[in-house]
Amino acid sequence: MTITSSSAWLSLLEHADAMRDYRVAEAFQADPARADRFSLRAAGLFVDFSKQRINAETLARLLAVAEAADVLARRDAMAAGEPINCTEQRAVLHMALRNRAGSSRRYVTRGYDVASDVEAVQQQMARLCDDIHSGRWRGWRGDKITDVVNIGIGGSDLGPFMVTEALRRDAFPAIRAHFVSNVDGAHLQRVLSQCNPGSTLFVIVSKTFSTTETLMNARAAREWLLASGAKERDVCKHFVAVSAYLDAAREFGIDAANVFQFWDWVGGRFSLWSAVGLTIALATSMAVFRDLLAGAHAMDEHFLTAAPECNLPLLMALIGVWNRNGLGAESLCVAPYSQDLRRLPSYLQQLEMESNGKSVGIDGAPLEVATCPLIWGEPGTNGQHAFFQLLHQGTTVVPVDFIAVLANDGSYPDHQRALLANCFAQSEALMLGKTESQVRAELIEAGLDAAAVNSLAPHKIFAGNRPSTTILLPALTAHSIGALIALYEHKVFAQGVLWGVNSFDQWGVELGKQLARRIDLELAEGAISSVGKPAHDASTRNLMAAAIGATGSIKR
Ligand code: F6P
Repeated sequence: MTITSSSAWLSLLEHADAMRDYRVAEAFQADPARADRFSLRAAGLFVDFSKQRINAETLARLLAVAEAADVLARRDAMAAGEPINCTEQRAVLHMALRNRAGSSRRYVTRGYDVASDVEAVQQQMARLCDDIHSGRWRGWRGDKITDVVNIGIGGSDLGPFMVTEALRRDAFPAIRAHFVSNVDGAHLQRVLSQCNPGSTLFVIVSKTFSTTETLMNARAAREWLLASGAKERDVCKHFVAVSAYLDAAREFGIDAANVFQFWDWVGGRFSLWSAVGLTIALATSMAVFRDLLAGAHAMDEHFLTAAPECNLPLLMALIGVWNRNGLGAESLCVAPYSQDLRRLPSYLQQLEMESNGKSVGIDGAPLEVATCPLIWGEPGTNGQHAFFQLLHQGTTVVPVDFIAVLANDGSYPDHQRALLANCFAQSEALMLGKTESQVRAELIEAGLDAAAVNSLAPHKIFAGNRPSTTILLPALTAHSIGALIALYEHKVFAQGVLWGVNSFDQWGVELGKQLARRIDLELAEGAISSVGKPAHDASTRNLMAAAIGATGSIKR
């Protein structure tokens, strides 16, 4: 049975109709306890849903939908290591990567407890961090490592990049971290121009070790090293790899001792907790990395044990479903009021859209329900001076997740206050809006004549009632960042169950990869094929001709 045919779903949609004119500002006036009623704390985070267009009845009906979709049973199946990634027959055990030593929880797949494998790789990571940080590890000219370049893309880049940026304050002072993902050579070139081949360590991260972008960048980095005078035997002093396919990494020429394993039960976009987070640990320390794991673990325990009505990831998932399917929102804006969290929206784009951007259910049948909204955003306050106009007065309603950090490191206290003031003001303005009578009164007060008031007033009205959630982190620590990311991971999982999709595969990225391989070959040969499967359409042929005309055949 799909969720759309359940009585809980039908009753939710009926309720959505009844709630079209529900005014959140009035609900606050009527219920002094509303803010507390719709706020929760978990794993050190405070989350306020009270500016969402919901009431107690909404939550009750959403929780009934969660029950009908069996979200908690699916959660338990995930924790029990069942192959819930049904199209690839894989378990989904990223929680095992952050299970605390001494915890009584066991993560087992195919009868095997993964704890000792996880611990062994964490120890291998700790040894490398120690070697690099102590200066024991030397480059081919005898130099200490000063620059670490993470080469990877998607889940092998976005998580480590986002977290390394966010943990700037915990940076190991003698190491600069860089990230290269794009197959555009400009990306690699820009990073290499800041590095010295004798003191640079490349961390090649690829779950499959077959991703074109990553392998091309890794090969070009190796050539750059060799061009500086290093010999083949020196490559092992400058390259380590992280992969689920150890042989492929070794075949690339990386010393077996420097290949860090992760497993098929870790999805790429859920992998920063594994050795995929090696650059995070190198850029900070293994202790900081373990704090990140601890924060995520605290959220895992909350998700696994809290009752549905106070289960934060579940409630966030349900509110997302409410906005998407009940109120028809097509996108979700993520606005971190923290420059150090500037990469969070990009990270969440992959986490949410690659996981739940699906249109068939786990049984392969087309879905009758709209799934993942578009995820987008920018840090505040920059976004306010760019797209917030649309959020306030545009014709489409966009729910917003505001994310703010209460304490900074003490520098620029006035900036910190202004940052928080802006964050809180935006959610307040989105909710309150401004009525025509308020606008008119202001214009009259400002001394405008009747004609000017009439012409200006419509432009200054804000409809208000625009939904948002605010998430507060006590400080930008590894622990709170871990908890925040795990919150979104579990939200995404729960939404996948609610919509009935497999959140852990990504077949939708394959066709473009296949066609790119073929087009790349033809561009290299300077010959465009009008046959083949499928034959190129006229538009694609024109574009290819333009590229060949511009560059001759594009050399491999
Ligand atoms: O193409 C999409 C994808 O498979 C993502 O799911 C993944 O995170 C990324 O490519 C990188 O894959 P890999 O780690 O295997 O290089």
